[in-house]
Amino acid sequence: MSSLIYKKKILHFSGMDLSDLAKGNKTPFFVYSEDILVHNYTSFYEGAKKAGIRKPLVCFAMKSNPNKELVSILADLGSGADIVSGGELKRALEAGIPSEKIVFSGVGKTKEEIDYALTVSKKGIFSFNVESLEELELINECAKKHKREARICFRLNPVVKALTHKNISTGNKTHKFGLLEKDVYDSLGKAKYWSHSKLVGLSVHIGSQLLDLKATKKAVIKLCEVALKTKAPLEFLDVGGGLGVDYHPSESSKMPAIDDYMTLVSTTLEKYYYTKTDNVPRVVFEPGRRIVAKAGIFVMSVLRNKISEKNHFLIVDGGMNDFMRPSLYGAYHGLTPVKEAKNATNCHVVGPICETSDCFGSDRKLPKMSAGELLVLEDTGAYGYSMGSNYNLRGRPLEILINKKKKIKTINKAQPYEDLT
Ligand code: LLP
Repeated sequence: MSSLIYKKKILHFSGMDLSDLAKGNKTPFFVYSEDILVHNYTSFYEGAKKAGIRKPLVCFAMKSNPNKELVSILADLGSGADIVSGGELKRALEAGIPSEKIVFSGVGKTKEEIDYALTVSKKGIFSFNVESLEELELINECAKKHKREARICFRLNPVVKALTHKNISTGNKTHKFGLLEKDVYDSLGKAKYWSHSKLVGLSVHIGSQLLDLKATKKAVIKLCEVALKTKAPLEFLDVGGGLGVDYHPSESSKMPAIDDYMTLVSTTLEKYYYTKTDNVPRVVFEPGRRIVAKAGIFVMSVLRNKISEKNHFLIVDGGMNDFMRPSLYGAYHGLTPVKEAKNATNCHVVGPICETSDCFGSDRKLPKMSAGELLVLEDTGAYGYSMGSNYNLRGRPLEILINKKKKIKTINKAQPYEDLT
């Protein structure tokens, strides 16, 4: 779905004139499109069904964007949630996601968070995706205390190398994530782990922004092999998240189509699991980026130009505290002026933060822009607001939704000075 289009030389997002939008709203701000969010979720879920995936449960990775309004749109579509903290659990529930559709990942779950997840409803959450044996023992103790049975899914570390940025790769031995195969087997049958817990699933998640699916296939094969070896009547297999998007134009041919991804998952599970046992587990997915990255943009104003000999800095009012990905991972995001113009020159688009890495793009070709003109940073719906901070004591930016009736709704106010702690 094409979301950014010039009409009469003005950039429109999801049908909305961005210059109009900026008249009543102070930059910088995030804008999301309900239409795109719904489209992305629906094509993911329908793609799974089309590929013959057994009873798919899509658990949206809340860390990518926990905005309550956006999560409640997904909840209405039937989405579950992949959470990594008590805060995300609370938000998922408030947004209307039922506890029995929530998987809890993360290596550092605290006792309080485990207690919360165990007692949140009669049945508790769908599963604790357990990342260490010490964690499993603690969950079992907590379940005993509450006279409950904890639903356990082992997050397997499949020992595969995902082709992605090293900071967002998670499936190898040196990474803190997941349990090695032998630890999974070692735990089975030991009362200290299982007196009040039940093994119901097995999961893998090898990294994020995956454009090459070779490692994904390897990981799913390993998931099947280990699942069979446990001999447990697993209720589900969870293939994690990680499906990437094309941030850079050169990535558009590499971005896996949903249908291809689903076919890969489906055929691999059929061949390596379903044909080898009578057990028929359902399939869980944990997508974040693929659902929400392209449903959002970040709109900034130019503050001024600064020419330092050969370097032209275009200084904008958004900073790395609002959107970290370029400074943290050197990630590319498109930059497009709201007013269409010709005669582009090279410039560095930089924010106001006192860090050299506060740069949204070096040597970008942009037309001459002056103070007050609007510039859009593209594909910022995932890992944008959620990774933002108050660094340099800047308030968090406004978040706006273009709803399906093409009406504007403020879904998070800009943080005023009084709220800065
Ligand atoms: N499941 C687990 C267990 C995860 O750790 C993650 C992401 C996901 C699902 C969702 O992955 P996705 O489908 O969104 O790729 N801040 C980084 C990304 C960190 C991802 C962390 N885990 C970035 O901006 O690229």
